[in-house]
Amino acid sequence: MNIIKTSNSSLESVDFSNLLFGTVFSDHMLSCNFIDGKWQKPEILPYGPISFNPGLQVLHYGQSVFEGMKAFKNKDNEVLLFRKEENFKRLNKSAIRLSIPEIPEDIFMQGLNDLISLDQNWCKLGKDYSLYIRPFIFASSECIKASSSNEFKFMIITSPTSTYYNQDLNLFVEEKYTRAVKGGVGFAKAAGNYAASFYPTKIANSKGFQQVIWTDSSKHQFIEECGTMNVWFRIEDKLITPSISDTILSGITRDSIITLARESGIEVEEKDISILELLDAYKNDKLIEVFGTGTAVAVSPVKSITYRNHKMSFCDISDSFAVILKEKLQSIQRGEVMDKYGWTSKVI
Ligand code: COI
Repeated sequence: MNIIKTSNSSLESVDFSNLLFGTVFSDHMLSCNFIDGKWQKPEILPYGPISFNPGLQVLHYGQSVFEGMKAFKNKDNEVLLFRKEENFKRLNKSAIRLSIPEIPEDIFMQGLNDLISLDQNWCKLGKDYSLYIRPFIFASSECIKASSSNEFKFMIITSPTSTYYNQDLNLFVEEKYTRAVKGGVGFAKAAGNYAASFYPTKIANSKGFQQVIWTDSSKHQFIEECGTMNVWFRIEDKLITPSISDTILSGITRDSIITLARESGIEVEEKDISILELLDAYKNDKLIEVFGTGTAVAVSPVKSITYRNHKMSFCDISDSFAVILKEKLQSIQRGEVMDKYGWTSKVI
């Protein structure tokens, strides 16, 4: 791997006690081009501007996919990556749907390892700290014909992070706008999925909600996701989360939480769940807690859900599944307990 190291690290200038998610970037980035029908040799460069012309295809047609993953420091000062194989597989699944050539495994894995190894001091030890890793691929031909690009760029950038949401999560059930439709790209981490969510989210924000609950596109009756997270409902002592479909992102945190809940003796059901079922459970005092999961947030409790003129509020409880499962997840991610599922791997 060709590595050009920065001569001007910004590490010392970062206030790690006050990190705003996604705003601080580590010293280096990985870059790899797809040209002449194949992925070329990747290289690691100082983090910084990349130059392109205004005809860059991704700017016009949004042909771009990304991943979100995290690295953690253990107490021996080693860096642990969490379930990197799953991110690799999902990136290529998204790429196929967006007509982007798949990344070879060695480019992804070697690139990831070498980049994180070089910037390992950006990954801090301590509760809530992690290094958020953003692999992404975009159409890089200079061409505005509405067709798949001939050239692409794969990059990995990293960003030190602590908590994602530092305020309560009050959700609004969205019945007009839709995140994903059957046969569409909702299951993929396509950049455009997020762009399309910003306007409905902005409207919800203006009404005092932090995020929306996305519902199915045909009748807006069934719950799909919330914000950028998979969503979970504890009805009595059972955990329910919407089943994976082509409109729901197959969250790696979601999958991990299913495993950890089941090993803790919590019953988990993946099924289509309607707003009316939820409301009914709430009215009968059976809806105990709600939370979202995702790489960036880990596990994030929900304070309230508003559906039309009904507000469902949730208070902190002592045996919260969200708290128990977050703790279990994070202790594996930080290498504090035995990793019996082989989810973590050391950066070398
Ligand atoms: C993640 O959890 O990695 C996400 O996809 C959220 C991100 C859009 C900030």
